Amino acid sequence: MTPPEPTHRVAELRNLINEHNYRYYVLDDPAISDAEYDVLMRELCDLEAAHPNLLTPDSPTQRVGAPPASHFAKVRHEQPMLSLGNAFSEADLYAWHERVVRLLGNEAPLAFVVEPKIDGLAVALMYRQGHLVQGATRGDGEEGEDITANLRTIQSIPLTLRAAPLAAPSAPAIPEVLEVRGEVYLRLADFDALNARLSAAGERVAANPRNAAAGSLRQKDPSITSQRPLRFFAYATGVTRGVQFRSQWETLQFLRSLGFPVNQDARRFEQFAEVVGFCREWMARREQLAYEADGVVVKIDDRYQQAELGVVGRDPRWAIAYKFPAREAVTRLVTIVVNVGRTGVITPNAELEPVELSGVTVRNASLHNADYIAQRDIRLGDYVTIKRAGDVIPYVIGPVVNRRVGDEQPYSFPTHCPACGTALEREEGEAAWRCPNFGICPAQVVRRIEHFVSRTALDIVGIGERQAELFVSKGMVTDVADLYALRAEDFAEMEGFGTRRVANVLEAIEQSKQRPLERLVVGMGIRYVGTVAAQALARHFGSLERLMDASKEELEAVDGIGPVAAASVVDFFRHEANRTLAHKLKAAGLTVATDTTHAARSTTLEGQTFVLTGTMPNLSREQAASLIQSHGGKVTGTVSKKTSFVVVGESPGSKLARAQTLGVAVLDEAGLLALIPPPEAEETGK
Ligand code: IVH
Repeated sequence: MTPPEPTHRVAELRNLINEHNYRYYVLDDPAISDAEYDVLMRELCDLEAAHPNLLTPDSPTQRVGAPPASHFAKVRHEQPMLSLGNAFSEADLYAWHERVVRLLGNEAPLAFVVEPKIDGLAVALMYRQGHLVQGATRGDGEEGEDITANLRTIQSIPLTLRAAPLAAPSAPAIPEVLEVRGEVYLRLADFDALNARLSAAGERVAANPRNAAAGSLRQKDPSITSQRPLRFFAYATGVTRGVQFRSQWETLQFLRSLGFPVNQDARRFEQFAEVVGFCREWMARREQLAYEADGVVVKIDDRYQQAELGVVGRDPRWAIAYKFPAREAVTRLVTIVVNVGRTGVITPNAELEPVELSGVTVRNASLHNADYIAQRDIRLGDYVTIKRAGDVIPYVIGPVVNRRVGDEQPYSFPTHCPACGTALEREEGEAAWRCPNFGICPAQVVRRIEHFVSRTALDIVGIGERQAELFVSKGMVTDVADLYALRAEDFAEMEGFGTRRVANVLEAIEQSKQRPLERLVVGMGIRYVGTVAAQALARHFGSLERLMDASKEELEAVDGIGPVAAASVVDFFRHEANRTLAHKLKAAGLTVATDTTHAARSTTLEGQTFVLTGTMPNLSREQAASLIQSHGGKVTGTVSKKTSFVVVGESPGSKLARAQTLGVAVLDEAGLLALIPPPEAEETGK
């Protein structure tokens, strides 16, 4: 017989883990660190391994359970999964409203629910007695495919419905049968990261978040799907037994109380004018969303009215999609130029005939890599479709083949570095071609100087791309350390550099020697080591020398450093040229150790957590962050109840709205500065 103890602990751990999953993935308000979460997960895995009889399919350890499938079985939808009619203008929206009024009669009191229309994939999740038993794609609306194993891997989809500890005390009982419908999607940031990962692995990148989500859901092996950062929003129910809803609004509240992620931006209105106002507002907010939305959906709230209005074909008369204007445009690809990056990666960019795309003139677009161009057969002179998602740089989706006239030229990717002529190389399994002339190729040196002087690194004002190119072409600078040997005479031939400006630049170079070690670590341009990792490394090792000699194991042991960054640091300092550079920088007088006497920093903001959003009048995001950190405060990316302050600049994102909802204090730049002792006071305090 099983002793009662593990049974009890397993149940307790599952509840805890489910609760933390819910907080993290649904509420966006984690209560514990990833490491603490991992400890709980480990304990549960160990217990389940020791007591296999306690293992159940809805344990949080069992999200990836099924072996790869050979095909997906068909699933008939008991209730068809509908589609939506479109409104492309406010006039269309008014026309829809008029028809509703005509059909229901003038006197009928109307209410509307307006929800963002997420651009992802509709799925249906079947719960029996509170357990997820089946998940299917929409398919043609009548019949979809059984992708249960893949949907189970999505952390924001509950495997078991919550018995509502967090919901209202009057939480409903779990219905006997509940089919939940909603959208599986990828956040823009997750999409970019996924594409970067796929591209680095030499795999096909997806053209947009929707395709990436679709591709991820179609994987035959659920363990691959589990590595894709898919998310879910619930917006409707299908078949139900044991529960009934009077309205869409009630449905959304109910789904939320059962633990489903429901879009926080859904609203209920009783005046149609307010609906129109909200649609307008959304059009403007579109660019700030964390995910791609292609419009808003307006639904009649009352279920009886919905039934009365009915469905024509696949489109319900009781709902309409108000579509945003397309963020795609078609223009001619004039030529392809390749850029050599800091680490030698060759990236192709399309030079386009200028075209308007959601309010900006686009002249260049990314082509990702050589395979991307080849796979899509993108030719010089082609008309191409370009797309912008969020604030990411536009990229080419593909050619408009039926606009070809015959003189388009297939593109052959260069075999040699356009800057130094070295034959390009490509590592097994990588998508990117590289110039292997590391440390010498002038294009790489220029890029490295640009990075070194940038604001997050050594912050040397007055040196930009043009100056870097000139220094490099004249042989005055062969690596970033040479910047410290520049003298006034070296600027002699530079246009626009009078005595005064030269003095300023030299002063800025001199000043940069005082930057803390972490900035130097950023400046060295080690792959996968950005500001956050550099801070962790500088704090842990305390000197450049110790960092240079750290082993992979030592690096991985640093909080915040993963295996990829650790391997990259080791690899970087394995190169003799980089070690020499480190010594040169030290010899030039840069700060190569964390100064412990200075480490007695201000602690004014200790224990306070800040979130930054929008553009501030004077401080860059990085400057504001390092200011807060230098006074002991913490900067995070997500607003939660634990956030002390949200600092807003111009055009703040959804973070401001979230702060207001949660009642978190909001500051502007001046307000932030007012929290901190003025620099003079600090000087004397040292
Ligand atoms: S309602 C009336 N609500 O849009 C029932 N759909 O064009 C139709 N979609 O297949 C679904 N967000 O994939 C509804 N808040 C939302 C939605 C939404 C995205 C998608 C869904 C559907 C398609 C219809």
